[in-house]
Amino acid sequence: MYLKNAWYVAGFSEDFPNGALTTRTYLEVPLVFYRKDDGAVVAMEDRCCHRLAPLSHGQIEGDDLRCMYHGLKFAPSGKCIEIPGQPRIPSSMCVRSYPTAESHGCVWIWMGQPEKASQADIPDNVGPDLPGWSMLPGRLEVNANYMLVADNLLDLSHLSYVHRDSFGPGLVFGQTRPKVERLEKGVRVSRWLLNQPTAKYIREKIDATHLDVWITYDFIAPGLFLLYAEMHEPGAAQKFGEDAPSGVEPLHKEYTSQAVTPESLGKSRYFFSYGSWDRTPGLAEFYRDFSYLAFNEDAEIVSAQQRTIDASPGITMQPTSFDAATLQYRWILERLMRDEGIDGPLIGGGRAESNHVQQAP
Ligand code: FES
Ligand SMILES: [Fe+2]
Repeated sequence: MYLKNAWYVAGFSEDFPNGALTTRTYLEVPLVFYRKDDGAVVAMEDRCCHRLAPLSHGQIEGDDLRCMYHGLKFAPSGKCIEIPGQPRIPSSMCVRSYPTAESHGCVWIWMGQPEKASQADIPDNVGPDLPGWSMLPGRLEVNANYMLVADNLLDLSHLSYVHRDSFGPGLVFGQTRPKVERLEKGVRVSRWLLNQPTAKYIREKIDATHLDVWITYDFIAPGLFLLYAEMHEPGAAQKFGEDAPSGVEPLHKEYTSQAVTPESLGKSRYFFSYGSWDRTPGLAEFYRDFSYLAFNEDAEIVSAQQRTIDASPGITMQPTSFDAATLQYRWILERLMRDEGIDGPLIGGGRAESNHVQQAP
């Protein structure tokens, strides 16, 4: 099952170069992407309606795409506008075209009802080109269901174990319960980590052995993870209780926007941009390389988890108190799917019947 009426990240702007046909599969739909003369991205089903040849073997002609099997030409809307040697073009001669948008270095695609696609629903704080932040794009393919990748991001207690050699936060993430708040289409998870040893990956940046760290993130359907962190002098957190810091300039701040887009129920594309406010030359590259190191650790454990789930029919997961955000997000996503008329449990655990791979509708 997939949420359809939602904007998914299809890739970074640089993944869709001018003059090239780019193929991707999202929500089990093979797609071909290209750019029009004005740079706007077109996304179509990668299947000619004539004899079902892949349009990705075709040719871009201005704003249009010609199938290079028998020469039918399609407008960006998917409507066939030329059949060589046949003046009459039946209205049924068309391929499905999908709404797209582009912002802050990300290309988005809407896989549901086109009339419901509104660019106003695209969050403004996603992408490597966010003003002010120093970030570069990164991407991984994960052999796991998108909900397992979401679970991984919704419960950062795994940092203490999966990332012991990269982020290296010690056991604090696995022992500090965050505050979880429900949003309209997701959850917000926030916490202070008090008097933490300065993480080794930023020791060169910060002249302090210990820090109070504020971490807050939103996880928003259909799979966006937006995390903001501030590092303060030890003791700063006392003033704020469970609340966000205000009126105090942090020693350091970091932001990451990440997106999970399902290719199929067993494979996901994972996009990330991670960096700091600091524009020191080389820092964006450092964060990108560090992201690959850390997020490959996630990909490895989540893919292994998927293999174990696949080999465990009928075995259920058992939640702990750290699964609060995971369970609340499931509830929200299932509600959004029910609104689309899609019913049934998500995979990946949290409900007794939930850890079986469901067939796509
Ligand atoms: S299959 Fe595309 S034109 Fe024939
Ligand atoms: Fe992780």
